[in-house]
Amino acid sequence: MSHLSSALNPSELAYSPEVAAATAPIYERIRDVIPAIEWPVHAPYIEAINHLKRERNAVVLAHNYQTPEIFHGVADLSGDSLALARMATETDADVIVLCGVHFMAETAKILNPSKTVLIPDLEAGCSLASSITGADIRLLKEKYPGVPVVTYVNTSAEVKAETDVCCTSANAVQVVESLGVDRVIFLPDEYLGNYVAQRTDVELILWHGHCEVHERFTAQEIRSLRRRYDDLQVLAHPECPPDVLAEADFVGSTAGMIDAVGDAGSKRVIMITECSMSDNVAVAHPDVEFIRPCNLCPHMKRITLPKIHQALVHLQHEVLVDPAVAERARVSMERMLEVGRGQKVMA
Ligand code: 13P
Ligand code: SF4
Repeated sequence: MSHLSSALNPSELAYSPEVAAATAPIYERIRDVIPAIEWPVHAPYIEAINHLKRERNAVVLAHNYQTPEIFHGVADLSGDSLALARMATETDADVIVLCGVHFMAETAKILNPSKTVLIPDLEAGCSLASSITGADIRLLKEKYPGVPVVTYVNTSAEVKAETDVCCTSANAVQVVESLGVDRVIFLPDEYLGNYVAQRTDVELILWHGHCEVHERFTAQEIRSLRRRYDDLQVLAHPECPPDVLAEADFVGSTAGMIDAVGDAGSKRVIMITECSMSDNVAVAHPDVEFIRPCNLCPHMKRITLPKIHQALVHLQHEVLVDPAVAERARVSMERMLEVGRGQKVMA
């Protein structure tokens, strides 16, 4: 039986001596974050997925919140939402498997209409994306005529199509200021909006969307951790409530938080964000102690190795966007990417 055919059927995936040897270098890197007893479960999938990627000319893009066996085992590229959007425009692969939530896969499809974009679980949603619809934006535009709309990428294609320019948590202030106007409608994350409003003179009209993961952190929790641990560097995502951000040493996107680890020479770090981030980052920082009271994103956690395997075997679940919607959404995404390249955007 060929190597490919044995990679296709989950019942034939086994932790053979060959699989153990082929995946040993991967396990060596992540042994501190994945118990040895779990590796025989993950390794056959990792080996089969990496084989199928070559067969299908596929690339696996993984968000920073994916579990370590995905992040370190099968991802070709990883990053925050902004980096994933950029990577999607740059890949030569025929197939993109987006290991993240649905809006991230939609973004990849919008930017890359000719590619096959797969998501291992179509139900991987996001509380921010489901907090607003295209109809909501049309009503806001009627209420505030002429005021440009800046939308966080954690939204559906339909919402992006109603948007002037998208942003991520990594570039939100820059995008708002690139418009050169006094007032902007900023959607849908109220807390990210509050954070941006503190850093710009532009007036922001906000929506009441929240991330169900980050809104659960409290300032009290951080204060008590600081009392418990000396020399603690607190890194927080701007989707957290304002009083939580006020307690942090650094606020930034998931990629910004990763870059900031240990900046102040601190050997103890807490990431106020989704659980898997600390596991993924700890691999590169064996000298840093990660304190890990964290919250889990149930949508990100829908993505698993067996589902990625099935996605590649059956080329499922393809993410499709109505071409007319995608064309309009692409304009707002491309304007955001232009801001990153230093070009000003029209209001
Ligand atoms: P980043 O763009 O910072 O990776 O955030 C995406 C996200 O969903 C955070 O909850
Ligand atoms: Fe959405 Fe929050 Fe999950 Fe990020 S962590 S995908 S914002 S629900």
